[in-house]
Amino acid sequence: MSQASSERIPTERLVIHNLARATDTRAGLAEDVRAGLSLSPKRLFPKYFYDALGSELFEAICLLPEYYLTRAENEILTRHADEIIREVDGQSLSLIEMGSGSASKTRLVIEALLRRQSELLFIPVDISASALETSSRVLLQSYPALRIEAYAGDYFDGLAALSEVKRGRTLALFLGSNIGNFDADEAHTFLCALRRVLNSGDALLLGADLRKSSEVLEAAYDDALGVTAAFNLNQLARINRELDASFQLRAFRHRVIYNKSAGRVEVYIESLREQTVSIRKLGMQIHFSEGERIHTENSYKYDLEGLSQMASATGFERTRTWTDEREQFSSNLFVCQ
Ligand SMILES: C[S@@+](CC[C@H](N)C(=O)[O-])C[C@H]1O[C@@H](n2cnc3c(N)ncnc32)[C@H](O)[C@@H]1O
Repeated sequence: MSQASSERIPTERLVIHNLARATDTRAGLAEDVRAGLSLSPKRLFPKYFYDALGSELFEAICLLPEYYLTRAENEILTRHADEIIREVDGQSLSLIEMGSGSASKTRLVIEALLRRQSELLFIPVDISASALETSSRVLLQSYPALRIEAYAGDYFDGLAALSEVKRGRTLALFLGSNIGNFDADEAHTFLCALRRVLNSGDALLLGADLRKSSEVLEAAYDDALGVTAAFNLNQLARINRELDASFQLRAFRHRVIYNKSAGRVEVYIESLREQTVSIRKLGMQIHFSEGERIHTENSYKYDLEGLSQMASATGFERTRTWTDEREQFSSNLFVCQ
């Protein structure tokens, strides 16, 4: 487990543990960029989308007409949050959220919990320290009965730290179909790690995007306004800034393909010409041929049978599923066995 340094903000209701500072995210970025851009085909990792600008761009994506995921999950939680928490055994719950971001949809669950109990401990984990700090302060202003113990860092560092927090009966959230960034093995590893910090009777509410037509899926990740393209290319801008690289953003483009047989949307950055980029802090020169791609993200899409199998293979049972009216998105209650 990484050694967490704690930042106490002058209120007893908020503690932010900055795990990222202890493990040095820049070193993680440098190692992953070196490894990923040495591979063939080249790849980068979705967790590095979320610097301060990337987190803001993701919030803009959530407002786009093509990006139905946020609206659909919001619809489900607006309609069913009270029912969802009634399904979890226990009078008083603590709330964990992995990859909480702005925690906008989380408000619906927090409000449902505070209709049932007089106070609430909320434990968000997010790699974006800026998103975590802003969302924590906004939530504390809205809900006087809330206490927040936040972890800024990678999911797995957060889970290692969480195993030491006393919290009683717990509902964990993993919203926004964040699970879809993992391939099957990684999702299995993540769910097993989460299951280990929960107890029998605790539950996970897992947001999972459902399979649908390639037109709808590709538009959701390649919007007409170009916000998702900016979000994707921002990884190159981040590498320029943090690792002193020479990526010319206009010499690359955003590409999106729905791979139906693999059941995933694949997101790439494609080189528009033959070029060589230097990454000075890594002492690397990276050659791109025209049309060569960097694979930056997968977003897996699910069916309910697959979700049940995923649950039972990792120590959970999928006991209930709610969908939006158009059946585009699912919220699944995985109860710890
Ligand atoms: C797609 S956004 C979803 C945000 C929010 N949960 C929602 O549903 O709108 C993914 C969030 O997970 C965080 N994240 C991505 N990879 C992460 C990782 N490996 N460890 C911790 N947080 C991560 C990002 O910073 C971002 O806030």
